[in-house]
Amino acid sequence: MSAQIGTRKKDLLTLFDHSTEHIREILRLAAELKAKRCSNQYSKLLDNKTGVLIFEKPSLRTRISFETAIHELGGHVINLASEAVGIGTRESIEDVARNLERIVHLIVYRTFGHNKIESMARSSAIPVINALTDTHHPCQALAFGLTVAEARGDVRQNVLFAGDGNNVCNSIMVICAKLGHNFTFAGPKGYEPNGEIVKRCREIAAQNGGEINITNDLYKAAANAEVIYTDVWTSMGQEEQAQERKAIFADYQVNSALMAAASKDVLVSHCLPALRGEEITSEALDSKNSVAFEEAENRLHVQKAVIVQQFS
Ligand code: CP
Ligand code: NVA
Repeated sequence: MSAQIGTRKKDLLTLFDHSTEHIREILRLAAELKAKRCSNQYSKLLDNKTGVLIFEKPSLRTRISFETAIHELGGHVINLASEAVGIGTRESIEDVARNLERIVHLIVYRTFGHNKIESMARSSAIPVINALTDTHHPCQALAFGLTVAEARGDVRQNVLFAGDGNNVCNSIMVICAKLGHNFTFAGPKGYEPNGEIVKRCREIAAQNGGEINITNDLYKAAANAEVIYTDVWTSMGQEEQAQERKAIFADYQVNSALMAAASKDVLVSHCLPALRGEEITSEALDSKNSVAFEEAENRLHVQKAVIVQQFS
């Protein structure tokens, strides 16, 4: 019998699948859980429940924040070494999912192609949470949403993403569209976010009073930016392109000059890990405007809120 039989399965694969109201509810709950850390009514929600973490790429924040969240909710965590499982080699992803659903209650999965997490979710009756794929990083975007709300309240922001149109960029763009923030991507030609994702975000943004802009002109885009976000120029899995990318992205660094070109008191954030001196300078990352480490902490609170929603 599936470990989850009789409960409603709620995956988190991308924020596209979640309404603005649902995202706002996650953020509200995350703020509440943050305020009441460890001593809240949900503390034993995962009693006798087990979550499995499967990471096919390195991680610090995601792994540690999920492990801590499940522990603080009274559950047990199994960290599976992906090489030991052999997803797609020793056993198909569908069969891995069909086995896991019989024994554990939650799957947290970091992988490469987004189709892999879709297969995992389709093939299991238990909730699957995206811990990052090549295309989306929804938990990071939720942490961003909470961090901006803490700093700016419920006020529409002009968000500038500088650099590569990657997984983090996509998810930040989706949450901005959902929450009605204006989003501008500024990066080199050929490295803009995927056109289909931009199109979907524009449709969602229009319903929520926001805009999505794509440009190659960083300093023009910075003129009215209230939040500047960046991420590494070379994502996990692209390591062989690192040297080439360093040259291509060189003019898109987040630094004091860019911050000076933006709105007064601009917030700066980064999903981390940062390559200091490449996509962001230490001066920017360690400035009083930086909320990157607050956002890193908020990973714990938003993920805990996602889990609470899935199990209550
Ligand atoms: N931001 C983030 O997901 O960090 P890790 O890769 O360390 O989990
Ligand atoms: N874009 C980066 C994010 C790391 C958290 C990567 O995928 O490697």
